Amino acid sequence: MPLPTKVKIVEVSPRDGLQNEKEFIATSIKIELVDRLSQAGVPNVEAVSFVSPKWVPQMADGADVMAGIQRRPGSIYSALTPNLRGFEAALAAGIDEVVIFGAASEAFSQKNINCSIAESVARFEPVAQAAKAAGLRLRGSISCALGCPYQGEVSIANVVDVTQRYLAMGCDEIDIADTIGVGTAARVGQVMRAVTEVVDPARVSGHFHDTYGQALANILAALQTGVSIFHTSVAGLGGCPYAKGATGNVATEDVLYMLRGMDIDTGIDLDAIVDIGQWISGHIGHKSSSRAGNALAARKANA
Ligand code: HMG
Ligand code: MG
Repeated sequence: MPLPTKVKIVEVSPRDGLQNEKEFIATSIKIELVDRLSQAGVPNVEAVSFVSPKWVPQMADGADVMAGIQRRPGSIYSALTPNLRGFEAALAAGIDEVVIFGAASEAFSQKNINCSIAESVARFEPVAQAAKAAGLRLRGSISCALGCPYQGEVSIANVVDVTQRYLAMGCDEIDIADTIGVGTAARVGQVMRAVTEVVDPARVSGHFHDTYGQALANILAALQTGVSIFHTSVAGLGGCPYAKGATGNVATEDVLYMLRGMDIDTGIDLDAIVDIGQWISGHIGHKSSSRAGNALAARKANA
């Protein structure tokens, strides 16, 4: 299959990137991060989540973040919404796309959202209906699609099963998430081929954490199956609080650098993203984990 010529990047750093940070990050920094990303040309920013602040305190200021940003016309702003309460908050905040998130692994479902896969699907049903009734985009995220920190192997049949449940609920997009970054290219190819047998590849995304350094290879494997949407996080920020040892999402800088070299268009200004990566790393007090980001920043500093 020919590789896609265009890729949609969903920047998840404001949500997946920051949710794992122990120190509370000021709302003004979160607002600046979302704004700088959209100004750099990012078409879809996963900006906040409307989850229980007891579970994820870092995301408690989602409504304030959304009230403070300058919306870039044409950009989509997404939020995680585990239940109707989260959905109502997202609607009030003017979110364009809500994300329901379940797992292909029974053990992880219990740890992350405190219920079984079947219960989680039942819990998402009213959220999906409300999203459709309000005319919002709906995305379904499947955690542990390439392995689980608690049960290990996850079957491809389970991933396809959750995909079909999400499609039946009206999801516009399906995220295949490697929560703990254990997947390798051959398995990613198999999973993506199985999923794209039941849904158009134009509606499938790859959400790869880079824990084992496999994410770029996994993106290439997914591109080869026709998938053209990828979730990335500036400076490689990220990690799920319920997936011990999982590090950040693949760094946006690394992905943009790779795609630029392959003549695949994203509409995003890589230079601006490199600056944002250095800036946000300074604010949260750890060095950027983006190899390309650090190399390009060093080259700029020495120019
Ligand atoms: P629960 O404890 O099973 O259910 O939580 P609950 O309904 O009894 O709620 C508990 C408390 O939270 C109650 O407060 C609720 O009012 C409150 P209390 O009565 O104890 O004072 N509450 C809420 N507050 C604000 N907004 C809400 C909301 N809902 C309930 N929407 C629940 C169930 C799902 C809510 C909880 O388990 C939760 O919020 N979990 C957080 C899950 C999360 O954010 N995980 C990280 C994101 S997922 C991820 O990172 C993976 C992803 O990146 C893909 C990948 O990499 O795999 C997407
Ligand atoms: Mg994630």
